[in-house]
Amino acid sequence: MNAPVQGLQDPAQVLVTGASSGIGLAMVQALLEDAAVARVYAVSRRGGACEVLQALRERHGERLQAVAADLTCDTGLADVAAAAASGGALHLVVNCAGILHGAGLRPEKSLATLQRDALAQVFALNAFAPVLLAKALLPLLGPGAPRVFASLSARVGSISDNRLGGWYAYRASKAAQNQLLRTLAIEWRRTHPHATCVLLHPGTVDTPLSRPFQANVPPAALSTPGHAARRLLDVIAGLTPADSGRFIAWDGSPVPW
Ligand SMILES: NC(=O)c1ccc[n+]([C@@H]2O[C@H](COP(=O)([O-])OP(=O)(O)OC[C@H]3O[C@@H](n4cnc5c(N)ncnc54)[C@H](OP(=O)(O)O)[C@@H]3O)[C@@H](O)[C@H]2O)c1
Repeated sequence: MNAPVQGLQDPAQVLVTGASSGIGLAMVQALLEDAAVARVYAVSRRGGACEVLQALRERHGERLQAVAADLTCDTGLADVAAAAASGGALHLVVNCAGILHGAGLRPEKSLATLQRDALAQVFALNAFAPVLLAKALLPLLGPGAPRVFASLSARVGSISDNRLGGWYAYRASKAAQNQLLRTLAIEWRRTHPHATCVLLHPGTVDTPLSRPFQANVPPAALSTPGHAARRLLDVIAGLTPADSGRFIAWDGSPVPW
């Protein structure tokens, strides 16, 4: 694996959300293997109660700090910012928190199953949390040094690539996230020219999020969380501020909006 970010300060402070499962957890593991990374803030609602994070903490000590926070509320976002502020400036943020299904929540197959509550729940995490996280962390992403804010989107959030329909809330929440962070990237060109804000598509990855929907996925098209995390970190490593505002897949190819 390359260094996490081109020109990343060494030692680097990194914050990963969605850190208790799937791609975010694999991202934390990969980052801790990189000697340039001084500290990883690993954010999820489970926080330090996640057993894998506990084992990583035993192995890596102070380099790993688990933060328990719900990104869909302002107190959770404030808790994340307060925890990260203890270590000074952040150099890389990878937002991997996301929701597709859960208790009483299933991706919609048709208009008849669309529910206001489900739309609100999915938008709260997939669309609103990323840009509000960027806002909460803004004092730690100050100008002057390379900074990357990378957030996981999904190809199904692409409007021009939507051929199958269905999954109303998930698709629309990812499209909304894309627009919100594209707008942030344009603002940062003026205010934070050293910062890079990108949307990333991880591919189809074997995680609790995708597991109920893998039946029609050919095995070769399904990657492990570890593989996806390493490929995404390779993409991040090659970013410069000129890439800010792009939607990029795990293999470096552009994803249409
Ligand atoms: N897997 C795929 O095939 C695939 C494909 C395209 C895009 N993606 C995107 O990639 C990202 C990661 O997905 P994944 O497959 O790794 O999912 P996952 O295994 O289900 O992990 C989701 C993570 O989000 C955290 N989370 C959920 N609700 C939260 C909340 N309210 N506040 C804070 N954290 C919360 C969960 O931790 P807690 O429950 O502990 O809070 C968990 O760590 C998502 O944005 C997803 O949409 C995944």
